[in-house]
Amino acid sequence: MCGIIGYTGRRRALPILLEGLRRLEYRGYDSAGVALVSDHKVEVIKAAGRIYVLEQQIDPHMPQTHGLGHTRWATHGAPTDINAHPHTDAENRIAIIHNGIIENNRVLRTYLEQLGATFRSETDTEILAQLIAHFYEGDLEHAVRRALHDVTGTYGIAVVCADEPGVIVAARKGSPLIVGVGKGEHLLASDAAAILAHTTQVVYLDDGEMARITPDELRMTTLDAIPVARGAEEVEWSLEQIELSGYDHFMQKEIFEQPDSLENCLRGRLDLNEGAVRLGGLVDCTRELTRAKRIVMTGCGTAWHAALVGEYLFEELVRIPTETEYASEFRYRNPIVDDGTVVIAVSQSGETADTLAALREAKQRGALTLGVVNVVGSTIARESDEGVFLHVGPEIGVASTKAFTGQVAVLAMIACYLGRRKHLSPSAALQFMDALAQIPEQMRRLLDRADEAETIAHHFHDRENWLYLGRGYNYPVALEGALKIKEIAYIHAEGLPAAEMKHGPIALITKGMPVVVIATAGVQYEKILSNISEVRSRGGSVVAIATEGDSDIKQLADHVLYVPDTVEPLQPLLTSLPLQLIAYHAAVQRGCNVDKPRNLAKSVTVE
Ligand code: G6P
Repeated sequence: MCGIIGYTGRRRALPILLEGLRRLEYRGYDSAGVALVSDHKVEVIKAAGRIYVLEQQIDPHMPQTHGLGHTRWATHGAPTDINAHPHTDAENRIAIIHNGIIENNRVLRTYLEQLGATFRSETDTEILAQLIAHFYEGDLEHAVRRALHDVTGTYGIAVVCADEPGVIVAARKGSPLIVGVGKGEHLLASDAAAILAHTTQVVYLDDGEMARITPDELRMTTLDAIPVARGAEEVEWSLEQIELSGYDHFMQKEIFEQPDSLENCLRGRLDLNEGAVRLGGLVDCTRELTRAKRIVMTGCGTAWHAALVGEYLFEELVRIPTETEYASEFRYRNPIVDDGTVVIAVSQSGETADTLAALREAKQRGALTLGVVNVVGSTIARESDEGVFLHVGPEIGVASTKAFTGQVAVLAMIACYLGRRKHLSPSAALQFMDALAQIPEQMRRLLDRADEAETIAHHFHDRENWLYLGRGYNYPVALEGALKIKEIAYIHAEGLPAAEMKHGPIALITKGMPVVVIATAGVQYEKILSNISEVRSRGGSVVAIATEGDSDIKQLADHVLYVPDTVEPLQPLLTSLPLQLIAYHAAVQRGCNVDKPRNLAKSVTVE
């Protein structure tokens, strides 16, 4: 949600901070600000709105070499100039930026008010600034540590003080923070994208840890002042991957990247000669996994849809009872975690608050936990017992696309890996792997005809209500198609298992209402044709997603978009692409901000 960047070194901080803020923009925000330190003075400039609004208010030549920057997503207090970060203490000596929520903020506020404090903003963060100042006696690190002992809630914070040139103190509990290690400089960020232009060497902070950085030194400790020794790791992502490279939007770029991103995801993992799936991250828990009695998949949003495909895959290939749970529900409903329960957390960012909490709940109850995560070094990746990375590269567009296909592909590989150790015959496994290996090329072919989806979007983009129907493996795809068009085109849409339409939603169908039906070849093909007829007889306009070569469907549907043929369990890897394209083009034609849809954030690190 909020984005954090800090710099201390020998170069001018302002351009580095502003560039970092721009790179964090994709996470969603409503105000931004910077604090720059020099000559025993902290200067804070902040403004509601986009980064350019902030830039208009700053002298671009500010010389300081030490400072903080923040993009805020309002939780406590409206998105105004005053509520924007950084916040300072009453004397403007200490400035802080914060991602998270201080839960006991009212108690702390009352306590400070009794001591005579007054507050300028409505934020919990200003309370923390004043609390740190209250404990400050010449040692910022000590004051931050002391203040945090009185705080309950979640935070990733960075703090500077007018009297400590070059020093940034950071602490983390529940919100990601990394330190970038450069030559004669250190950076601090909530997300590697913010600092990639300067260094690929990063040190990850764990929950309950603090860092004190100066240009030449990084010192890490726990909140209780126990030293922490941890080396830097190389971030695999490149600068090019986080730039638009000629595309209009990141979402568009990421849709078209899918043949390559999926190739990267599969690389080295499908051994077609031996008929074996190779997943290094599962080697140490294979025995335990094959003995599992029950598997729970969990995640939020698009990741939850991918998990639902995973549930179908696991039940078919592994034959272990599998269920998919929204992470937000799992974490609070006293879940049954028996001996033999495995919990798989699916997440692009690896930082989603509910998914992380579900993972911790499962771990605490003794489950073996796996992470299916894209961001290496993220909290879920670090805290799950074992796991498999997506390796689809950075996803910047708020609406998830290439991460969805990566998640489905990884779950398919895990299913095949475990299936072979249970009931799946070598020939069936090989056939499945062979089909999976062909998907990137099939995606390429499909994307060559992307203009057909654009035509559909052009035709229907002014309709405010859509239905998406699918059966079996394509039911989660129907949910995902509806979510995409809601998220970025602000069109109301519902995704349904096709047969459920008769139990209520059919009442919604009026003349010309777009109904997207995934009608690819498979065991339920005849059934879905009946559903198409039902929609047509009520006047709905059917857009069918069908298998190449199916010419009969043209008689039934108003429009047909073809996808290459593959085995049923892998169809979501292809059928999801036309739905992503329809949503993308509908959003463009409706004039929506595709990469920064209203009210949404890329990474939801608060509840
Ligand atoms: C947000 C994003 C979605 C994403 C979901 C889960 O809602 O807007 O695109 O699917 O979070 O994110 P995760 O990083 O855990 O996959």
